[in-house]
Amino acid sequence: MGTEGAGTTSLLISRIGTLVVVPPGPLAGARMREVTQVHNAALLVRDGRIAWFGPASEAPLDEGTTTLSANGGCVIPGLIDPHTHIPFVGDRSDEFVRRVAGESYLSIMEAGGGIRVTTEAVQAASVEELVAENLPRLQRMLEMGVTRVECKSGYGLTPEDELKQLEAIRDLNRQQPVDLDATYLGAHALPAEFEGRADEYIDTIASEAFLREIVRRGLARFCDVFCDRGAFSVEQARRVLSRAVSVGLRPKLHADELAPIGASVLAGALRAVSADHLEKIDEAGIAALKGAGTIAVVLPGTSFFLGIPHCDARRLIEAGLPVALATDHNPGSCMIESLPAIMHIACCQLRMLPSEVVAACTANAAAALGVEQRVGAIEMGFDADLVVLGVGSLEEWFYTPGRPRVRTVIKKGHIVHRRPEHAR
Ligand code: NIG
Ligand code: FE
Repeated sequence: MGTEGAGTTSLLISRIGTLVVVPPGPLAGARMREVTQVHNAALLVRDGRIAWFGPASEAPLDEGTTTLSANGGCVIPGLIDPHTHIPFVGDRSDEFVRRVAGESYLSIMEAGGGIRVTTEAVQAASVEELVAENLPRLQRMLEMGVTRVECKSGYGLTPEDELKQLEAIRDLNRQQPVDLDATYLGAHALPAEFEGRADEYIDTIASEAFLREIVRRGLARFCDVFCDRGAFSVEQARRVLSRAVSVGLRPKLHADELAPIGASVLAGALRAVSADHLEKIDEAGIAALKGAGTIAVVLPGTSFFLGIPHCDARRLIEAGLPVALATDHNPGSCMIESLPAIMHIACCQLRMLPSEVVAACTANAAAALGVEQRVGAIEMGFDADLVVLGVGSLEEWFYTPGRPRVRTVIKKGHIVHRRPEHAR
């Protein structure tokens, strides 16, 4: 929605109890802890960008500045969710219950469930229906402090249905304040009619001409492949992503979620912008990502929702990788849409420190979307995408999971959400 160009006024955020100063990403390894908490601070926004921040006593007084009091709360950069499967329609709660009763994600997929079920629903939906069902999801994400979201196709599985999903992302981006980054994921699952003919399917949905059309129409910036046991092989992923790179799409990979088949090594070889999931990553995968500067996107909501062991995020951080976190919001493996919920799982279950979790959901998430030079940090000249929390410190926020703490969300200097007074 048009917030661009409208910010000709100044906004002073006063009475900030703790300003959480995240430096620009990517923040690798121990640098993820270089998040400083400045107490009794203020922040000035001019023309939609951060113009000044520091001790409240030194705040500049612009002529005609509007003031917003943070009431002693924390101010953090807007949260960024760099991996979701929005837009989707349909319901797979039956699979969820089957898993709770003991079946695995892979066995349900092999028995004809999984991604193909959502594909049927998406193929039957119009662009307008996809937009209508997914707008409320983005609205709820905004209310939880999320100002930027990556969205993927991958439930169309025919060229025209994949384009339909990308068009829905484009329309959703125009209709609400959260910025969306689109990823083309035609190689997400093999349609039943292509059983045993995966290479042919790849030539259908990842021909150079089709990828070029996506780029020409500005419908995606990234190309992703589900490279795993039961999905696409390393060789198939390499074919898709090499073509994608040759037409100007940046590569991403669903890697090492179900089995370590070498997907992270491929991500490194292709200098992918991110490798996502990584529950089963091995040393060779870690070394490959590190050598390539690839962001490791960890999705603890998925392991929580599927009841599988988490990715060892500590090992990745100790190895010096820049780690980001995301919801992976999708109807099969993670219906959690709350990035704060994921952040709390990361802290409590992955033993990531509050500073590391915040870096993962701001500066490093921005780097996973190639926008780390403009968003994801408290830095002069960066977009004023900010969240005011009703807690005095990061420690207090992480100590109290499950409580909605977002008070105000600011997008490019404009207040786009305010929690009603009675709900505070
Ligand atoms: O990231 N792993 C592949 N894709 C999704 C699941 C999609 C689905 O089950 O609908 C994921 O977990
Ligand atoms: Fe995913």
